[in-house]
Amino acid sequence: MSRPFATELDQALTAATRAPSPHNTQPWRFEVDGDRVELWLDHDRVLTVADPDAREARLSCGAALFNLRLSLRVNGKDPRVRLLPAPGSPDLLAEIRIDGVRRSTPAERELAEAIFHRHTNRRPFLDQQVPRGLQAALNTAALTEGGRLEHLEPSARYDTVAVLARRAEFLQATDESFQAESARWTRRSAGSADGVPLTAAAPPARHAGAVPQRGSHANAELPARSYEQQPLLVAVLSGGQGALADLRGGLVMQSVLLTATSLGLATSFVSQPFETTETRAALEALFRDSGRVHTLLRVGYGYATPPTARRPVTEVVHRGAAQTGGPST
Ligand SMILES: Cc1cc2nc3c(=O)[nH]c(=O)nc-3n(C[C@H](O)[C@H](O)[C@H](O)COP(=O)(O)O)c2cc1C
Repeated sequence: MSRPFATELDQALTAATRAPSPHNTQPWRFEVDGDRVELWLDHDRVLTVADPDAREARLSCGAALFNLRLSLRVNGKDPRVRLLPAPGSPDLLAEIRIDGVRRSTPAERELAEAIFHRHTNRRPFLDQQVPRGLQAALNTAALTEGGRLEHLEPSARYDTVAVLARRAEFLQATDESFQAESARWTRRSAGSADGVPLTAAAPPARHAGAVPQRGSHANAELPARSYEQQPLLVAVLSGGQGALADLRGGLVMQSVLLTATSLGLATSFVSQPFETTETRAALEALFRDSGRVHTLLRVGYGYATPPTARRPVTEVVHRGAAQTGGPST
């Protein structure tokens, strides 16, 4: 039987690139030297208008790291991961050493299956509540990575988050530099190796709901559809500050996203309020007592969406010498 990947590491690197990233920018690169891998932030792929501090890019790299580690584990490896971002070298994010062996658990194998099935679903969700038991499983997924979730029930806090999202969507819709950046990365053809293809865009909303649709991710040529009026929103949180916290936040986020996928749940992101200075400050103040808020996810039931492409692994992996130091996970 032919093996689709030459080595477990090749498979893990492919899995890493399936991570989500804003506008499918894929802001990562990997330096491989034998059984040692370094994960670097690719600054050329950071959204300078929407994400000037590279916060969302580091979350994406954390998600890529989660996939890489999980893929190695289900292939019987025991990767040792050190999270590295430091003030002097903020772009060197992590070092992974693959020198042990270990038996994977059924739960890890199930989660790894989800890596290639998870897609951002921007379309309307079904009118079906996410049962409490599944919400609890998502909480556990966050706790496993040292983070936590807050499920936003209809409440004053939900309303405030929705107002901030609508305000940010308005500010971005009227900001030429933001629009130009979005235009560069969206409405791509289906074969595009990065960016968001039109096939992943959503039909326009027939009625404005509590949470705004991202204008740049709507396809006005599709017939308008009704969306759920108050989707389940989940805030991904952790402790700490700075680049290290972002990277850890990405691990938490991906643990939750893959768990949701394996439970048959659809997910999408509500990032607008993180991307304007005014709404970001208000959002952080709102969650200050709960920790650092990394992202907001919309969770529910939807019909399957097609995958978006990724750049070939050979484009993001460089083989040769790598060099490093920092805390382990
Ligand atoms: C930190 C982060 C923020 C994102 N924000 C949004 C968003 O606000 N709206 C949206 O539709 N997608 C958002 N996405 C999803 C990306 O556009 C998506 O991951 C990318 O296009 C690749 O598609 P896939 O997730 O289906 O693999 C975000 C992803 C990440 C990691």
